[in-house]
Amino acid sequence: MSGKQLYRRNCEVCHSMLPPAKAAPPIVRLDPHYRMLYGNKEDAVSAMASFMKTPDASKSVLMPQVIERFGLMPAMSLPDEELEKVAGWLWDQYDSTYDKQRDCYR
Ligand code: HEC
Repeated sequence: MSGKQLYRRNCEVCHSMLPPAKAAPPIVRLDPHYRMLYGNKEDAVSAMASFMKTPDASKSVLMPQVIERFGLMPAMSLPDEELEKVAGWLWDQYDSTYDKQRDCYR
């Protein structure tokens, strides 16, 4: 299964690609945080996979208000290989025209 198919099957119910948010921050809002904190895909993918496996507020790359608003993400019971594949797909969705500060498209 491709990363996109994994997203469709396991993530889309809560994470839309673009605002408005469903039950979780849209994918475009997650990506810039990982880009900023981890300059490279490998480290970002392992951080994401680790979070999805055992979500924990102390591991979050988001502002604390996000967890207050949506609650903590439930753990994903997927094999490591699929967690890494969907995390890699998420990293690849980065859209440089998305302005996190203004929270809109330029
Ligand atoms: C039941 C709803 C739900 C599902 C399903 C879900 N998420 Fe989430 N996710 C959330 C919520 C709520 C947050 C924001 C709070 C948090 O970070 O825990 C979040 C946050 C995240 C974050 C940011 C973590 C952080 O705080 O640093 C990533 C990355 C993520 N999700 C990826 C995924 C991927 C990939 C999938 C599918 C494999 C997925 N999520 C499925 C609800 C969900």
